[in-house]
This record gives sequence, structure tokens and C-alpha cells, in this order.
Amino acid sequence: MSVYLITGGAGFIGSHLCEALLKEGHHIINVDSFADNYSYQRKVINVLESLGMDTEFTFRNKKDDLQLLLQRVNGDRYRLELTDIRCMDSMEHIFQTSRIDVVVHLAAYPGVRASMDNPYEAEEVNVKGTLHILELMRKHGIRKWICASSSSVYGTNAKVPFAEDDAVESPISVYAMTKKSCELLGHIYHHQYGIDTIMLRFFTVFGERQRPDLAIHKFTALIDQGLEIPFYGDGSTYRDYTYIKDIINGIKGSIEYVEQQQNVYQILNLGGNQTHSLASMVEDIAQELGKKTILHKLPKQPGDVDRTYADISKAQNMIGYEPMTTFREGLQAFVSWYKGGGYEW
Ligand SMILES: NC(=O)c1ccc[n+]([C@@H]2O[C@H](COP(=O)([O-])OP(=O)(O)OC[C@H]3O[C@@H](n4cnc5c(N)ncnc54)[C@H](O)[C@@H]3O)[C@@H](O)[C@H]2O)c1
Repeated sequence: MSVYLITGGAGFIGSHLCEALLKEGHHIINVDSFADNYSYQRKVINVLESLGMDTEFTFRNKKDDLQLLLQRVNGDRYRLELTDIRCMDSMEHIFQTSRIDVVVHLAAYPGVRASMDNPYEAEEVNVKGTLHILELMRKHGIRKWICASSSSVYGTNAKVPFAEDDAVESPISVYAMTKKSCELLGHIYHHQYGIDTIMLRFFTVFGERQRPDLAIHKFTALIDQGLEIPFYGDGSTYRDYTYIKDIINGIKGSIEYVEQQQNVYQILNLGGNQTHSLASMVEDIAQELGKKTILHKLPKQPGDVDRTYADISKAQNMIGYEPMTTFREGLQAFVSWYKGGGYEW
């Protein structure tokens, strides 16, 4: 069994990954600062769910609640470290005192719009934080690394579907720049220090526990409450949506690959292999909820790309990645999670 250090393991994707790897008998060190991009309560529930624990929790204040969480969850196979990846001293301590086989780096300041509102924060967490992780890996001789990149690096790429060897020199958001920077840092540390690396370009991930700032979650909440949806552009922009369980299979396949192979530096698209327009996505959500939409039409947002569409043939060939969930199936799972109280926090 392996020991995986997962950064951002209390978040949307990270909590699903912890859950899947724990089920396979592996050991997890989850480094998460419970950042304020959304409620810490939701992340507490994510952690409890990922461990298959009772999610009853009486929330009081963040500091005490997180201490209580630590007492409840820390055990032989799972360790939660309440640490900011930018804090070199506490990160150093974790690396010094742990055996780690693979680092899966998911912690980030995520989101295109958030990165334009807080560009310094986005740069500091995503670039400096990633550099910290790589420096610690170099220093402590850990040579296997998976890192979350993003489809946003493709910017306004004219050619579809987007392939990994398309030029990605023209980011249109600070977030995209930071993810491209992570890919470049990964390349440097692979070349200089032999760290085997797979950079995963996720294409809009959705499903249970999805971040509340992402469109599907946000629109579901607004439609459910009978509120107006801010509808940017004419609805013709489209996205490649990827269901969370398919993404987790892609991450697991990448971990296996990097553990078994030597001299790896690869970038892989993980997409859903199907695209949906903004207009049809909103309609589908309304149908799932059995409610009507009220659209508040607004001009297109700067930084938003018109379309994303992944060419997944490289991931299919390299790690046997195969998205199995249709958009509608994934949406049904999401909406039923949402109706079961997912949105409460
Ligand atoms: N969700 C998507 O559609 C999507 C698409 C492309 C890329 N990604 C990338 O995937 C990764 C996971 O995204 P997510 O949607 O699960 O986001 P999330 O916000 O749910 O999870 C990120 C986690 O990282 C933690 N974190 C943030 N800053 C930290 C810091 N400085 N130190 C320690 N922990 C910190 C947060 O508390 C959170 O639990 C991110 O790198 C994101 O950029 C996500």
C-alpha cells in the first residue's frame, strides 16, 4: 500500500480522491488550510464523508471546529494537516516526519473570476505554493508528482478539440497563467531533479460536493430558489463537462502510471468527451429540478473562454482513461446530492 500526500484533500476533487484511495487501502496525508473560497463547514463535511464517518457536526467557530475535526479523523491510515502550503516551516515538518510515495497537488486558489479579483493571492498560492511543494520534494527525495492544471490554459485556442501539444502561450486570465506556470515548474523539476510528473488539465469538473462558485452549482441554487440567473453572453458558449467519478479514475490511472514508470513528464487532458452549451446546461438543470429559469442577460465576461473541448486520446492511450458518465447522468447525481442538503453549507 502506498502513502499519498494530497494537498487540498478537503475540497471538491480532493475529498473524492481521498475517499477512493482510502477504499483501496492506501494511506493519506491530507494537507489543507480550509481556505475561505467557500465555507469551511462544507469542507468539514467533505472530510467526514470521504472517511465514511458520521457527518453530524455542531458548528461553533472555525478554530474550535477544525481542532475537533482533527481529533475525530486522525488515525492510522489518514492524517489531516491544517497547513497552508505557503507556510514553509510547517510544510517542512510534514515532509521531514512522513514517508511519502506520491504527492498529488490539488490545493489552489481556483477560479478564473476569483483570480482576476485577487490576482496576487492567486499567484501566491498557485505558483509560490507549488514551488514550495516541488522544493520539499527535491529536498526529501520524493520523485513522483501529480499536479492539477486546467483547461483554462488553452485560452481562446481556435482549434477544437484541444490537444496537449497545442500552443498555450496566450492565457486570458491570471488563473490560466498560474496553471501554465505550474506546468513549467513541473518541467524544470523533472528535468533538473528527475521528479516524475503528470500534469492533469481538468475540464470543468462537476458532481456531488462541487464548489459553490462553479456554474452548475450556482445555477442549481438560483433556479431552485426561483432567483434570476446571471446569464453572460448569448448562451452559445460551450464547455466540456467532466463528472467527478471519471476525473477520479483519471487521477488514479495517472498515479498508477507515475508509480510504475520512470522518466515521466506528461501533460494529460481529462475531459468528459462531450460538450454542452450554456443555454442547454441551464435548461437541463431546470428540468432536473422541475423548475423554471429566470435569465438576467449580461454581456460576456472578460477572461471567460468561448468553448472548451478536450481531445482525450492521449489519456486514453497512456492511462486507459475512459469517461463513462453522460452529462445528464452526472447532473442527476449532482441535483440529487444538492436536494439532499448538499447546499446547506
Ligand atoms: N473543479 C474544476 O472544475 C477544476 C477545473 C480545472 C482545474 N481544477 C483544479 O483542481 C484543483 C482542485 O479544485 P477543486 O474544484 O476541488 O477546488 P476546491 O477549492 O474545492 O479544493 C481546493 C482545496 O485546496 C485548499 N487550499 C486552498 N488554498 C490552500 C493553501 N494555500 N494551502 C493549503 N490548502 C489550500 C482549499 O481549502 C480546498 O479544500 C485545483 O488545483 C483547481 O485549480 C479544478
